[in-house]
Amino acid sequence: MNHTIDFSRIPRERLPALLRTMPKAELHIHIEGSLEPEMIFALAQRNGVKLAYPNVEALRAAYAFSNLQSFLDIYYAGASVLLHERDFFDLGFAYLEKAAAENVRCAEIFFDPQTHTARGVPIQHAILGLSHACRRAHAEWGMHARLILCFLRHLSEAEAMATLEAALPWREQFIGVGLDSSERGHPPEKFAQVFAHARALGLHGVAHAGEEGPPAYIEAALDVLKVERIDHGVRSVESPALVQRLARERMPLTVCPLSNVKLCVFPTLADHNLPELLAAGLCVTVNSDDPAYFGGYVNQNYLETFAALPALGAREAYTLARNGFEASFASAADKARWIGELDAHFARAAAA
Ligand code: HPA
Ligand code: ZN
Repeated sequence: MNHTIDFSRIPRERLPALLRTMPKAELHIHIEGSLEPEMIFALAQRNGVKLAYPNVEALRAAYAFSNLQSFLDIYYAGASVLLHERDFFDLGFAYLEKAAAENVRCAEIFFDPQTHTARGVPIQHAILGLSHACRRAHAEWGMHARLILCFLRHLSEAEAMATLEAALPWREQFIGVGLDSSERGHPPEKFAQVFAHARALGLHGVAHAGEEGPPAYIEAALDVLKVERIDHGVRSVESPALVQRLARERMPLTVCPLSNVKLCVFPTLADHNLPELLAAGLCVTVNSDDPAYFGGYVNQNYLETFAALPALGAREAYTLARNGFEASFASAADKARWIGELDAHFARAAAA
């Protein structure tokens, strides 16, 4: 916490501009979830892929989800238009362009290679296309963009292990491994060996846990997979002992408010437990998850969440942005530089 900024000098009506302009990190974004309907149709045409929907409007109309699985079915179908390295570059660069415009300084991006290799797409088409987009974002805007390879938890650990092995010729193009897809019935311990192998290779580890799954899945992600961040983690509040542990260990939670409402984890944003998680001292961050499907990119997540929850003000905006930088896998020097920029941004706002 910064003790030199007088947050009380920043009135509520200035929050939207502050949230938009503040430097921030994004640590929970599935690149396939940034595939906008317009790009799905453009790539379908470019690649000669047949879609189940006649046009963009009909596809968008199908984006009404009742839970995680109902979303995943449509999300995997949308990704079927991604075939060539160029497609992955275009997808990655379109996201990074939006993120740069939203003042994202650091993006750690998930991708799901198994969604593509299952269709016969060589794994390097995804890795090389996306890593090229990350390098281009650095050249264009000085953005720090890195990749995290996610395993699909509805598939077997042997398939996850084969995916990691297939990716190893391009080991330098990604910084970590993650775990996503259908949570219920697929506990973290199913992937103990592949996470241990990834760790031995020097890769970071993160896992989705406590989105739809119980607090025990968060504990297993920590104890068995030894992850360094929990993706979502909002169901941690059901276990006070776990909340205390997450606070003590300063374990980051990459929370995605709009996603949680779209997938019916909370009925409305006003019911979201983000203020409760922050008040418990947890290292909470704000992220977009699958922005093309859930109604907005990271700034929209900040804006709507702050509009819906009166407990969130300038101090909380600062804390959330700072947590994002601290929870990133960037170097200490990069983190210090971004936090310095954040401090200056809020100090200016408090002096205005
Ligand atoms: N949860 C699990 N898997 C996912 C998600 C999510 O929110 N988004 C994309 N894959
Ligand atoms: Zn996610």
